[in-house]
Amino acid sequence: MPLTLDAVRAVLAEVIDPEIRRPITDLDMVRSVDIEGGDVVVGIDLTTQGCPLRDVITRDVTEKVSGLEGVSNVRVEMGVMNDEQKAALRTKLRGGTPEPVIPFAQPGSLTRVYAITSGKGGVGKSSVTANLAVALKNQGLKVGVLDADIYGFSIPRMLGVENPPTKLDDMIIPPVADGVKVISIGMFAAPGTPVIWRGPMLHRAMQQFLGDVFWGDLDVLLLDLPPGTGDIAISVAQLLPNSEIIVVTTPQVAAAEVAQRAGIISAQTRQHVVGVVENMSYLELPDGSRQEIFGTGGGEEVSHSLSVELGYEVPLLAQIPIDIALREGSDKGRPVVADGGTPGAEALTKVAEALASRARGLAGRPLGVTPK
Ligand SMILES: Nc1ncnc2c1ncn2[C@@H]1O[C@H](COP(=O)(O)OP(=O)(O)OP(=O)(O)O)[C@@H](O)[C@H]1O
Ligand SMILES: [Mg+2]
Repeated sequence: MPLTLDAVRAVLAEVIDPEIRRPITDLDMVRSVDIEGGDVVVGIDLTTQGCPLRDVITRDVTEKVSGLEGVSNVRVEMGVMNDEQKAALRTKLRGGTPEPVIPFAQPGSLTRVYAITSGKGGVGKSSVTANLAVALKNQGLKVGVLDADIYGFSIPRMLGVENPPTKLDDMIIPPVADGVKVISIGMFAAPGTPVIWRGPMLHRAMQQFLGDVFWGDLDVLLLDLPPGTGDIAISVAQLLPNSEIIVVTTPQVAAAEVAQRAGIISAQTRQHVVGVVENMSYLELPDGSRQEIFGTGGGEEVSHSLSVELGYEVPLLAQIPIDIALREGSDKGRPVVADGGTPGAEALTKVAEALASRARGLAGRPLGVTPK
C-alpha cells in the first residue's frame, strides 16, 4: 500500500498533547505533512516557543509515523503558532466562546468542586488535598487542583509539579503532575519572593485561575484554601456558589473550635459541607497501640456541632493517623496514596472512594426547572 497523507494524518491523530490532552490534529498543531518516497517531514506548530513538551511531542510524532509501512525516515520541524492561530485555539478550547467564563459556575456543570478548609493553619489541608487528588485520579476520575492559598502555596511541591504552565496569551494551560492538572500562584511568583496582595487582587487571581485556565472537562476540582475565613474563602463562595466544603481539623479541642467557625460560614455562603476530616488523629506505635498526641474527639466534635448548626448531617469522613510516609511523600512531591500501603494512605483512599461515589452529576443541585 503506498504511503498517503491520510495515513500519516490518521496516526498523527493518535498523538496527544500532554498538557491540553487532546490529539494534536484536533488542536490544529499539524502545519504540514510532506512525503517523498519513504521520507516524511511533519511540521508542528507549538503554542509557545519554549514549550517544555517539545521533546515529548517530537518523540511521539516520530514514533507514530515511523510505525507506518513504507516510512524510512521521519523529521519533525517545530514552529510556533501565530496570533491568529492562537486566538482560534483559545476559542476552540473554550468551546466556541471567545471570552473567558468560569466553566464550573455554569448551569449544568457536572464538575464537583470541593474547597478544603480549616480554621487553624498547619492541620493538613494541603496534604489532604494533594492526596485526595491523586487518589481520585486513581479511581479513574479527571481531577484538577487549584491552590488557592495565595500567600502560603505548597501544592506544587507536594504534587511534584515540574513544568510551568503554558501561556496561550491570556489563556493558561495548567501543567499536569501525577495525572492531575494543577495551578498555583507558586508557578507565577519568583522563587523566594512573597506575594503581598490585598483582597481585590486575591479575588482577581481566583477569577483568573478559574476562568483563564484551561481546565478541560473535569470530574472533580479541589481547591486548597488558606486557613481561616478570609478573603479567599469569600471569593470562592462568590465565584463558585455550588462549591462544597470539606473541613479539616486535628483532634485538639482548640483546633476543633476554630474549624467549626470555618464550617459555619457556609450557612451564610449557602455552601454545602460534605464532611469533616480529622487529621493527625494518632500515632500507631510498633506494638500496635495508639498514642493520641493531639488529644481526641476534635473531628467528632466538629461533625456533631456542624450537623446541629447547619441542620443536616455533616459526617466525620475519616481519621487520618500521623504517618511519616505521608509527610515524606509531600516533601518529595509524590503523595503517599500513589504507592499506598501505609495507614495514612489507606485512610485518605477511603475518603476519595466516598467522594468518587458521589462524583459528577446534578444530584442535590437545583435543576432550574419548574414542575407543571
Ligand atoms: N497525617 C499526617 N502525618 C504526618 N505528617 C503530616 C500529616 N498531615 C500533615 N502532615 C505534615 O504536617 C505539615 C502541615 O501540613 P499541611 O501543609 O498539609 O497543612 P495545611 O493545613 O495545608 O497548612 P497551612 O495552613 O500552612 O496551609 C506538613 O509538613 C505535612 O507534611
Ligand atoms: Mg496548606
